Amino acid sequence: MFYEIYPRSFADSNNDGIGDLNGIKAHLTYLENLGVDAIWISPCYPSPQKDFGYDVSDYENIDPMYGSLQDFDALEQAAQQDKIKVIMDFVPNHTSDQHKWFLDSRSSRTSAHRDWYIWRDGKGPGQPPNNWISDFGGPAWTYDPKTSQYYYHYFEAAQPDLNWRNPAVKDAMFDVTRFWYRHGVAGFRLDAVDTLFEDPQLRDNPLLDGKNEFGDREMVNKFNDNLPENHVILKQLRTIADEHDAVLVGETWTDNISQLKEYYGAKNDEIQMPMDFMFTTVNVLSASKFRAQIALQESAKEWPVYVISNHDMQRSYNRYGDGTHNDQIAKVMAGMYLTLRGTPIMYYGEELGMENNDPTRREDVKDPLGQAGWPVNKGRDGERTPMQWNDSTHAGFTSGTPWLPIPASYKSHNVATESADPNSVLVFYKNLLKLRRQNPALLDGEYIPLNQEDTNVLTYLRRVHHGSEAETVLVVLNMSASAQPVQVNLSAQSIVSSKREALLTTLGAAPSTNPADPIQMDPYSVYIAKLTR
Ligand code: NOJ
Ligand code: CA
Repeated sequence: MFYEIYPRSFADSNNDGIGDLNGIKAHLTYLENLGVDAIWISPCYPSPQKDFGYDVSDYENIDPMYGSLQDFDALEQAAQQDKIKVIMDFVPNHTSDQHKWFLDSRSSRTSAHRDWYIWRDGKGPGQPPNNWISDFGGPAWTYDPKTSQYYYHYFEAAQPDLNWRNPAVKDAMFDVTRFWYRHGVAGFRLDAVDTLFEDPQLRDNPLLDGKNEFGDREMVNKFNDNLPENHVILKQLRTIADEHDAVLVGETWTDNISQLKEYYGAKNDEIQMPMDFMFTTVNVLSASKFRAQIALQESAKEWPVYVISNHDMQRSYNRYGDGTHNDQIAKVMAGMYLTLRGTPIMYYGEELGMENNDPTRREDVKDPLGQAGWPVNKGRDGERTPMQWNDSTHAGFTSGTPWLPIPASYKSHNVATESADPNSVLVFYKNLLKLRRQNPALLDGEYIPLNQEDTNVLTYLRRVHHGSEAETVLVVLNMSASAQPVQVNLSAQSIVSSKREALLTTLGAAPSTNPADPIQMDPYSVYIAKLTR
């Protein structure tokens, strides 16, 4: 299991209100006990923090607000001792406008780094080179009076896109990955890999009807997103990763399963772990919808990477919660994404049932996306609030002023309080992760859907064969608000079992151990059992 740490918000060791690397180091034992195999740290490089670290001004250092390179090495070594791998976030699409490459690039039309970014003349006075819009609202081009040209930025204006058609950019960026491999990292989460290349002719994108949440005209990003050239770079990054026995995790937004499959590479020579974000587009707790999405992922015959939330989307606790049974629902979600075939990536605090704390006033918004999209899009501050360690002031995150306000629910939903409560979300996560680690069927077994017509309850097997023997685990997840009797028909799967032994459950009453008997599932409940012959 991979665990995403948003470093500003995990633990603040020097009480300036902002999390840091020493804060992470101080909590490695917590992560080890939780059952974390690898931590992915969102960008902690020097950065003006316009996009909170995704605007990198030096790829080969640590921002002083997070510590130093020495602190990083110390964290890396301590993590190794706890058998936790460290995955860095690599931001290849763009730099900060304060990066020395861009400062030189914009200084004159003939500067050494001019062609490291994408500069073009406007179509006419006050008119950008084409109609492309930025993901953060407004045109994707910003005019720079110094040299009277526009530069291109898929994201915020302070995040100019690198020109990946320039071999010097490629070499420099590949070297960045080697730098971190030398510092012991076990791989990278690749940011925005779909936008590395743009159409060489910079053709206008086709327009759609209507406007987006920033008031810009809707369009299909045909000429600046998902170009085939991206895959060439991914293969090369993979070659370097293989030299270091490293893993690449992809921020891979895809529209369909064949697009997602492409990211693995035709010969499994691109990203080992492209995230399935289509899974996160299932925005209601629905057994049928999840079953369908799992079936799609399984049809790719690759190693799935399931995610239910991250620093760019509302927390799963709110997305799936009904406001009354949120803890039970959080356990159902865990019961699903931690028992499916593949590698799950957990967002920090998910294991506590942390909830969003969205800003209520525009002046409080820190995220540039929220500033541009207010009030339709309130930005991503809500899902980035400090980790909740205990019920003391500021949830034990800092004794200073936390950079974002902590939701009131931290009083009950925090590591200390939940550790002492056998019914908490945290203890459920711990037990489940422990089970997953020890159980070969959950780790490596195939996924076999059952009861496929059931719209309320998601039921499946995980099954692994060793020689003539098989190990079989049954997972039953009631995603509905009402009690559901579940009859499991194993004969259709040619599975013979005389005994059903619960491994982990949230049920009030223990079901019969006879596999032929129905299982009485409580509303929003989890039942995981071993089937023996
Ligand atoms: C994806 C990151 O996850 C997001 O936080 C960021 O704003 C954009 N890429 C731009 O780097
Ligand atoms: Ca700090």
